[in-house]
Amino acid sequence: MQEVIKKVLINEEQLDKRIKEVAKEISNDYKDKTPVMLCLLKGSVSYFTRLCENMDIKLVYDFMKASSYHGTESTGEVKVTVSPSMDLKDKHVIVVEDIIDTGLTLSNVMKILQSYEPASIEITTLLDKPARRLTDGINPKYVGFVIPDEFVLGFGLDWDEEYRNLPYVGVLKDEYYK
Ligand code: XMP
Ligand code: MG
Repeated sequence: MQEVIKKVLINEEQLDKRIKEVAKEISNDYKDKTPVMLCLLKGSVSYFTRLCENMDIKLVYDFMKASSYHGTESTGEVKVTVSPSMDLKDKHVIVVEDIIDTGLTLSNVMKILQSYEPASIEITTLLDKPARRLTDGINPKYVGFVIPDEFVLGFGLDWDEEYRNLPYVGVLKDEYYK
């Protein structure tokens, strides 16, 4: 195990099993809809790939990157640095997120996406920290795992941009948690 990690929170087997379940559920709900699977870069890449390859319906990929402005208290105000390449109007969009914490970032992203007038829009997140939520407007329809308020990394999630390639989700040691 990496030296910055206190413990493994979700191992490879648990990730695989649960992502397959979510993939099946979304596939059942979106038969004949060819959803746009919208990956929010960069943290969602691992979840997005595993999820999509386990869906057995027609779908298309798109990507978006929204960065939160840094401040003392996050307002969730975002700057879009990669925009979706497709016209999302009248499309069934599924936003694929790695983790929802306060929900402020995603709530701003959702406002931007709504302005494209999709036919429908739902959220799937691998990890959800509902204890930290600061907005009641974010209700992910498909949640992989509800986790406690700890800083996690791996399976796409970074600590200072590193450790995204770990095949499991681990908890960062307290001494590194700034
Ligand atoms: P909000 O608070 O707006 O922000 O929902 C969500 C974003 O914050 C990052 N985040 C984390 N990243 N481990 C991480 O690697 C965590 O435990 C964690 N909690 C929040 C992440 O970028 C997410 O998109
Ligand atoms: Mg993220």
